[in-house]
Amino acid sequence: MDQGLTRNIGISNFTARQIDEAVAVSRHSLVTNQVEYHPFLNQTRVRDTLGRHNMALTAYCPLAQGQVFGNDTLQEIGKRHAKNEGQVAIRWLLQHGDVIAIPRSSKADHVASNFNVFDFELSTSEMKQISDLYTPEGRLINPSFAPDWDSVA
Ligand SMILES: NC(=O)c1ccc[n+]([C@@H]2O[C@H](COP(=O)([O-])OP(=O)(O)OC[C@H]3O[C@@H](n4cnc5c(N)ncnc54)[C@H](OP(=O)(O)O)[C@@H]3O)[C@@H](O)[C@H]2O)c1
Repeated sequence: MDQGLTRNIGISNFTARQIDEAVAVSRHSLVTNQVEYHPFLNQTRVRDTLGRHNMALTAYCPLAQGQVFGNDTLQEIGKRHAKNEGQVAIRWLLQHGDVIAIPRSSKADHVASNFNVFDFELSTSEMKQISDLYTPEGRLINPSFAPDWDSVA
């Protein structure tokens, strides 16, 4: 950054404690922390910590690696808005206000579908219904070298 080689610095897979430490030792602002986040994983602690530091959360696996498709709640909400489960999950993330979603797809029609989330709005009760899908088993990415995650059930 001092040499003009980068505009912004982000971190990834940092826990709440690690975010605090990183901010404390960094001479530059940190803009985002990229972590797993989708309707089946509670990231309240990480989000609250990022909020204190004015940082965004970048949600990887926003479609829970495809597991959102077929979920009854997401399907039912989607029907009301003429959207599919993936679009509902992405919209839910974006409506947090401080979350960026990075869905991955190898198919052009899926990519187009995943972008088609800016013409509808989830109600407060729909947002809550989706947040209630959190489960303690929701985490998908948990390698042996992972930190001691602090997400809540
Ligand atoms: N920082 C990290 O440690 C970390 C860890 C894991 C992942 N990531 C990044 O996060 C990004 C996304 O994560 P991810 O790929 O694991 O999970 P994801 O985006 O939640 O899900 C991808 C899966 O969903 C399917 N999909 C996507 N759009 C769809 C649609 N509209 N309809 C039906 N199926 C759809 C894809 O299949 P199709 O190809 O058939 O559409 C693929 O199987 C990736 O770029 C990855 O590099 C980062």
